[in-house]
Amino acid sequence: MNDVDEILTNEYNDNFFASADLYSKILKEKGILVFSEFITKKVLKEMVNEANSVKPNAFKSSSEYNVYVQPTDLTYPINSARNRIMKTTKKCIPNDLISDESFLMKIYNSSKIKKFFCSLLGVSNLYPYSDDLSSVNINYYEPGDSLGWHFDNSDFTITLLIKNCTKGGIYQYFTDIRFKKNGSENHEYVEDILDNKITPNVQLAKEGDLMIFKGNKSLHRVTDVIEGERILVTFNYNNQKGVPLSEQSRKTFFGRIA
Ligand SMILES: [Fe+2]
Repeated sequence: MNDVDEILTNEYNDNFFASADLYSKILKEKGILVFSEFITKKVLKEMVNEANSVKPNAFKSSSEYNVYVQPTDLTYPINSARNRIMKTTKKCIPNDLISDESFLMKIYNSSKIKKFFCSLLGVSNLYPYSDDLSSVNINYYEPGDSLGWHFDNSDFTITLLIKNCTKGGIYQYFTDIRFKKNGSENHEYVEDILDNKITPNVQLAKEGDLMIFKGNKSLHRVTDVIEGERILVTFNYNNQKGVPLSEQSRKTFFGRIA
């Protein structure tokens, strides 16, 4: 018996955790990994109950940014991929409103899972954010909400879908398209994507699926939710100890910095 035996489905046993090297290779090649039905139905139900009970305190944000999530650079045309404005609207519950006893925190703090993530990502350790808000977040997308095209700032993102909407809310992505062979940003390719000239990859996810992806090289978005509600938990780690999320990001997504 270990710290997450009661949480994970049978497939995620010791054999699975011993296969991190294999999954690491797949992640490197594909840029994305999905572990289907990662948690038991019972745990999933409790997570949704918790998400519903804390939702009245969620902060509704609306943010605008370019796909690089960097300030506008007027050395490029204002309507170029470098500067074009994307939009995200969602509600979010920060870490300090999630119970320490919850299954979400047990997964996040599990030494077994963290060790597996480290092997997967080829890092020696993973640390929580040093602020109280940013490590585990519950994100709610209601009809009309979406996550616009962007590259992440962090090397990787780990998510757990706990509720899926019934229409819309599709995760779309392009793997490893960010840079040209000479290492410079491939704005032209991104522009074709934004102009809908290239068909994106689609990753369908079911409730209870854990997903890991390399979001700083992969352009990705979630299309508008049309019907129902999508609830996505993000498990956010750092390679270094003692690093907070920027004050600006905390203000944007949580409406406060502490
Ligand atoms: Fe992202």
